[in-house]
Amino acid sequence: MSPPRLDTLRAVLRFRDFEWDPALRRLARCASVEDLRSAARRRLPRGIFDYIDGAAEDERSAERNVAGFERLGFRPRVLREVGETDCTTTLLGRALPMPLVLSPTGFGRVAHSQGELAVARAAARAGLPYSLSTLSTRSIEEVAAVSSGPRWFQVYAWRDRGLVGEMVERAAAAGYEALLLTVDTPVVGRRERDVRSGFTLPPQLGLETLLDGILHPGWTLDFLRSEPIVFANVVGREVGDGSTPVALADYINTQFDPNLGWRDVEWLRGIWDGPLVLKGIQSVADARLAADAGVQAIALSNHGGRQLDHAPSPVELVAPVCDAVGERLEVLCDGGVRRGGDVLKALALGARACMIGRPYLYALAVAGEAGVDWLLEHFRQALRRDLALLGCSRLSDLSPDSVEWRSD
Ligand code: GLV
Repeated sequence: MSPPRLDTLRAVLRFRDFEWDPALRRLARCASVEDLRSAARRRLPRGIFDYIDGAAEDERSAERNVAGFERLGFRPRVLREVGETDCTTTLLGRALPMPLVLSPTGFGRVAHSQGELAVARAAARAGLPYSLSTLSTRSIEEVAAVSSGPRWFQVYAWRDRGLVGEMVERAAAAGYEALLLTVDTPVVGRRERDVRSGFTLPPQLGLETLLDGILHPGWTLDFLRSEPIVFANVVGREVGDGSTPVALADYINTQFDPNLGWRDVEWLRGIWDGPLVLKGIQSVADARLAADAGVQAIALSNHGGRQLDHAPSPVELVAPVCDAVGERLEVLCDGGVRRGGDVLKALALGARACMIGRPYLYALAVAGEAGVDWLLEHFRQALRRDLALLGCSRLSDLSPDSVEWRSD
């Protein structure tokens, strides 16, 4: 047997430059949202990962959100001269580089100490709307100070409507462009992973969680080195601002009003000049009522499967809802979006844009702000690539003929 040839060996040996930044090293091993999720699972203590990743009861809604997109296949066309692809669109009257919005997610700093500020900055760099949650760990004003990009503010219906009114005023003063009223949370869904882990906000490092913390030193050091987590929009208010740890279910069920109704939608329209979006519409009937109420957009959403288990998956509602009210308001699809292709599928059925929540929290957990930048660039490239592979040059070339429901 002849010995290995040096010239052959030289031709194939390639060493990547060593990446000294551990966050970027973690990112470099990721190629998809699922990879980010696995990396986030390794990085975060179990209770924190489960709070982000978990959903209500048997988590069927959460699974079906993703599976809904899997059941939807593409019908590509070829020889369509797709050398120039354009993914730009307009949403609520604003031009966007791609049809993607960052959903509101509570308690951003449990994923990473950079929290909401990092996500807002990355979204602004990508030119995409960032929705700040009422239950954020950075305030309306703190986020406005670091982002000149489009910002939306998400509203929960506190029992104290005065507090809601004040937050709406603060959002207007700080230049938020749209209000997103969450309508699927009259009471909180039963998130059984949180029940099992005894998860509280802010998270506690007790005897049971100590080992978990020690096993995830990167997260734990980052958490312990940063200032205490508070519910930044209600600091010092009697509703509780996170200075005492609380289970999310107890907090929401005592502070939020299950009597939220269409009258409140009218009230919000009266106190807010900009566009109003109802997030959490789950039926054609309610989509019609939303259009009658004069809102500018609805987000089809089951809160990432975190509220009513076995609720319909948003992508399955897109076509019937757009048939019913697509002429009267803009329809967003929120839940289960893991690929650029998923966005194109929802758009083919009539949605104006999609929203992502968990994917950017996984990215934030893995690598902070750089992770969110990576994720948004990943979506940008995937949208352009899949649009070309479908034989389309621009989003308006998509139509229901671009997709088909499959039973396998
Ligand atoms: C908060 O809104 C959550 O879903 O955890």
